[in-house]
Amino acid sequence: MKLMRTLNKVGLKSLHILDPEVSHAVTVKMLRTGLGVWPKQIQDKAISYTLGDLTFQNPVGMAAGFDKNAEVPKTLFKIGFGHVEVGTLTPQPQQGNQRPRNFRLTKDRAVINRYGFNNDGHMVVRRRLEKLGKTNGILGVNIGANKTSDDRSGDYVKGIHRFNDVADYFAVNISSPNTPGLRDLQAKDQLHELLSRVLTARDEEHAKGKRKVPVLLKIAPDVTEEGLQDIAQVALELKVDGLIVSNTTITRPPLKDQKQAQEAGGLSGEPLFRLSTIVLAKMRRLVGPDMPIIGVGGIHSGETAWTKICAGANLLQIYSAMVYEGPDLVADINQYLLDKTIENGLSSLQEAVGSNMQAWADEPLS
Ligand SMILES: Cc1cc2nc3c(=O)[nH]c(=O)nc-3n(C[C@H](O)[C@H](O)[C@H](O)COP(=O)(O)O)c2cc1C
Repeated sequence: MKLMRTLNKVGLKSLHILDPEVSHAVTVKMLRTGLGVWPKQIQDKAISYTLGDLTFQNPVGMAAGFDKNAEVPKTLFKIGFGHVEVGTLTPQPQQGNQRPRNFRLTKDRAVINRYGFNNDGHMVVRRRLEKLGKTNGILGVNIGANKTSDDRSGDYVKGIHRFNDVADYFAVNISSPNTPGLRDLQAKDQLHELLSRVLTARDEEHAKGKRKVPVLLKIAPDVTEEGLQDIAQVALELKVDGLIVSNTTITRPPLKDQKQAQEAGGLSGEPLFRLSTIVLAKMRRLVGPDMPIIGVGGIHSGETAWTKICAGANLLQIYSAMVYEGPDLVADINQYLLDKTIENGLSSLQEAVGSNMQAWADEPLS
């Protein structure tokens, strides 16, 4: 075990010599071979979570953007993730922005990216998911809109129809900062229209005798109090199945790596933790205890994972910390959460959800 950890650390160091985008491509290639990956699933009823018909074996998921094209979900489940969110996927394949478009801020343990939804498009990824067969975890499909689309809401509707048979849940991503104007879909009227169309599409699929696939909305952390209230109101009114809080931020909290900090794009990793946790807690306070929320942004340890749960998250996702900590982090977080649950005399981790919400929700947004 110790040897594998050391090998992983050495592997990570070597990957960091490469350009971040190249290093990511190499990682995905390595994961495709499955070599050096050994099962590390931590299973215990105390950390499982049920959302509708879905049972998440553990709360830790791989956030969208890592496996954009659904090439390695099975290996990610083996590493120990309870759920994997593939995408963001757009109807037409897209190259995304010019390189370089992914930057490591090593001293800050952060990442800035401006990929702009590079992906293989619906058809290719749908075929890949059809071949996947049964997986040992929950598979989320994150959907978006093409940059040049003249009906952006229509692109999300297409996503629902294309992936209904292969997705365990949908993430509606209107929060990427790298597609100009996309975040405007978070404004109240536009959001109402978009979600009405998306949920109608989902219900049409269900009416054909298919599964009713939960739809979760992924929001940005760069929102005002009023903006949050609007989103919460629409989500409650239309009975969205859950929220994912949050995507990357276009703000720049104090950063050590001044040069990289000037790169345009969305910041993720440790400097995002505070803002995304405040937004999460405010959202929890607005929507009440029953709406499922996935907390994401800056989680990099068992402690930060526990903090997110206590701020109001039912489930968690990580991305940037995988770049700095490597795959052992997933099992480490799950083990920590299990230990904390027992230590606090709880029968389920879910009993801790929101236990420290008030303190976080009272913090200002900037
Ligand atoms: C390189 C990179 C690419 C990303 N691509 C997407 C994406 O395609 N769709 C999406 O919804 N989020 C995307 N994200 C955002 C993550 O899913 C997550 O919300 C964010 O990184 C915060 O989590 P973290 O601090 O653990 O990284 C991306 C993040 C990174 C670092």
